Amino acid sequence: MILWMQPDTRRRQRSWQTSMSSEQKRRKLVSDSIISEIGLVRGVLTFKVNRPLLVKKVIDKVRHDGPRYGFSSELLSDLPKGLTLVEYSSPNIAKKFHVGHLRSTIIGNFIANLKEGIGNKVLRVNYLGDWGLQFGLLGAGFSKFGCEEKLRSNALQHLFDVYVKVNAAAEKDEEMKRSAQKFMKQLESGHPQALSLWTHFRSLSIEEYAKVYKRLGVQFDEFAGESFYREKSQDVLNLLRSKNILKITKEGTGVVDLTDNGDLSAYSTVMRSDGTSLYITRDIAAAIDRMEKYNFDEMVYVTDKSQQPHFQNLFKILKMLGKDKVDRCQHVTFGRVQGMQTRRGDVIFLEDVLDEARTRMLQNMTKAETSKTTEDPADTAEKIGVAAVIIQDFKGPLQADYRFSWEEALQSVGDTGVFLQYTHARLQSLLNLWSSKEEEDFSVSCLQEPPVVATLQHLLRYDEVLCKTLKELQPRYLVAYLMGLGHLANVAHHTLRIKGSSQEVAHARLYFFNTICVVLASGMKLLGITPVDKM
Ligand code: ARG
Repeated sequence: MILWMQPDTRRRQRSWQTSMSSEQKRRKLVSDSIISEIGLVRGVLTFKVNRPLLVKKVIDKVRHDGPRYGFSSELLSDLPKGLTLVEYSSPNIAKKFHVGHLRSTIIGNFIANLKEGIGNKVLRVNYLGDWGLQFGLLGAGFSKFGCEEKLRSNALQHLFDVYVKVNAAAEKDEEMKRSAQKFMKQLESGHPQALSLWTHFRSLSIEEYAKVYKRLGVQFDEFAGESFYREKSQDVLNLLRSKNILKITKEGTGVVDLTDNGDLSAYSTVMRSDGTSLYITRDIAAAIDRMEKYNFDEMVYVTDKSQQPHFQNLFKILKMLGKDKVDRCQHVTFGRVQGMQTRRGDVIFLEDVLDEARTRMLQNMTKAETSKTTEDPADTAEKIGVAAVIIQDFKGPLQADYRFSWEEALQSVGDTGVFLQYTHARLQSLLNLWSSKEEEDFSVSCLQEPPVVATLQHLLRYDEVLCKTLKELQPRYLVAYLMGLGHLANVAHHTLRIKGSSQEVAHARLYFFNTICVVLASGMKLLGITPVDKM
């Protein structure tokens, strides 16, 4: 929000430096209703902001905009608008949900939230790994190693267990290997019985995923995985053929030459020798389908950085096919996480991370004796635990690798998710004292203390931070901003007492604390955190 004049351009400042004395400069600047005083102290120009105006403007703006505060700023007006498709999470059924999938889930959710914030329509897509040899193995080995009851009670865990067993068996037993390949062939050719078993595995898995995503506060509009594009992949191969882009090698595989001079020193394999599609073929099909079906204005893929070459090839092939919308596709990458383990061992499922975060947080709450006063301690512990994981993950540049530590993430002091939750809960409990709420106006003259001014100046910069966060799609700017806000809120909380103050002062202060709370909560929600009111 621009409340006073913007700093002058550097060039102008430089010419000022050479040609004018400090006093001349000071005289050139005139104070107005916003800058109430301009001074000169030892060669440094000082500006004094009209405090009552600052207080009134910022608080009224937050009151008026509510959670949309910051997003209504003109600064954000030139960002791409329209329909944004964000593809994220995308785990592989019957395989591990590794930390990379967790990162993709929370980063993708964050990007989708941000885009919604600027008023875009957002389509959240989960591109499930629901096709491939693991289903051949499952189909071949389920009758031997599987159990319908276990499948129904925890599909993800059970399919994973069966997959591990069949996989091991297939390594030793040629017969098992052959029947897995046979089952896969049946699936590829649309054999009704094979497909019905596959559908059964898939739908139970999706039900299970949906439950866990709900715990994390993440939603999807569509679960359209790789399987959805298996037939469309054949259209892609035909299209590549018709454009003379598909080259068949001696071994019979289909490749696309990615070089400019046609020497095949860089290529992408798009067809196996038996004519079936690969990961990239299904991605080409999915991209084209989404371009046609949704006519999106931008599409964002979120995966770890090891998939960068894959997406570069994908974009290149789409370009070769004349799909110009590819210029509106973006691959957001992130680094690897080390050390995220649970007490049970390696993280296998998203559920493991959530359970671990909840258990550890609940223990901390029990030690601090806060679990006694909280209504649903397990639920609160989960929300705080999730905040801890998100903040630990979002603190640094997304592309950097980092080492995860539960101890560090769950600290209640320092720049952690627990600290943010704690600050929010403290503000909320203060606001419980507020009976008149926002109907009555407040007295500006009661809000002139330095902590108020410092906090409101910080709030003024929210739109700049959102703008930078949106342009670079890096949550760390917002995280740093909210930490700053949290620290300012705590200072204000210590110094500006409610109890013992006159009614007028108490009302104005509560107004001010409410303003902080609105922005804090909306920033936390953008990051994917559900703010708690009590802890
Ligand atoms: N299922 C893939 C994996 O686990 C991630 C999918 C990423 N998205 C895509 N369109 N290829 O590695």
